[in-house]
Amino acid sequence: MLFYTGADNGARWMEALRRSLPEANISLWPDVAAVIDYAIVWKPPAELMTRLDGARAVFNLGAGIDALIDLPWPAAVPVVRLVDAGMSEQMVEYVSYAVLRRYREFERYEEAQRKARWEPIPRMDKARFNIGILGLGVLGMAVAKSLVGQGFAVTGWSRTRKELGGVQGFSENELHAFLENCRVLVCLLPLTRETRGLLNRDTLSCLPEGAYVVNVARGGLIMEKDLLALIDDGHLSGAMLDVFHDEPLPAAHPFWHHRRITITPHVSALTQIEASVAQIADNIRRLEVGLPISGVVDCGRGY
Ligand code: NAP
Ligand code: GLV
Repeated sequence: MLFYTGADNGARWMEALRRSLPEANISLWPDVAAVIDYAIVWKPPAELMTRLDGARAVFNLGAGIDALIDLPWPAAVPVVRLVDAGMSEQMVEYVSYAVLRRYREFERYEEAQRKARWEPIPRMDKARFNIGILGLGVLGMAVAKSLVGQGFAVTGWSRTRKELGGVQGFSENELHAFLENCRVLVCLLPLTRETRGLLNRDTLSCLPEGAYVVNVARGGLIMEKDLLALIDDGHLSGAMLDVFHDEPLPAAHPFWHHRRITITPHVSALTQIEASVAQIADNIRRLEVGLPISGVVDCGRGY
């Protein structure tokens, strides 16, 4: 088994892997064992992927596999992503905060406080305050259910239309109709050939005046210059962004000091080592006895 992470917490992953899979012989890239049966990776170098002939699976240490999709790896080797593994709960927390911040107008109160002004704002009708979620997969669905539970009107857009109590579903060819009614747009799509740059001047302009954008998926889904221009010209009221084209966000990027933009450093749902290793170990044990596993990616679709 081969392990590689581009993050700086490799030792903690190795400890957890050795605890959960004591029978495994785990090599750390670039120390490659003669035969690799499984690879466990996050943002691996291209060369690693060329060494996987005969491997039984590549496990990606995240939900999104966009960092792998253009790398050269043997087509016969399945790619397996993390499914939830402790991320849904965190996404629900993050998106709830962003939605409530916008809905209860906390930014306006912060601004009023800076000017020492006592300015109560009438409460908006929650049932008419529509939250639109792009991507109703594992994470989008968890967020949708939570927002419905809080009394918001919720709509969702996905490749195939979803039916969920309290959520109006839209399918792939209904993007414009979906966007027209979103007071807050939450992006939880995977980054694929189809979704790259999906949120651009044209599509963001379909949002109603004053809409707010929350991106917790991948920076490449949004054309950042278009988002900025639409916030600056007042069409959009602002954005809360966890992900960016370039990460870390470059020091000179205009998002850092924009009054209407709140940023966080790709932390909306952090990979949980213990839960992730437990999921991977369970999948490996299932593969070893020929049972089906969760999280196998359709590489043609890219997610
Ligand atoms: P998922 O279960 O695979 O869900 C993906 C959703 O997107 C599905 O509903 C899918 O539609 C929809 N979709 C994909 N391509 C589409 C297209 N071209 N048009 C319309 N809908 C499309 O993924 P997940 O586990 O919820 O994760 C979503 C993403 O969140 C990940 O890919 C990752 O990039 C991001 N993420 C970010 C963080 C962070 O910390 N910022 C953490 C974890 C994950 P169908 O249901 O019809 O297939
Ligand atoms: C994190 O961004 C993930 O895709 O899990």
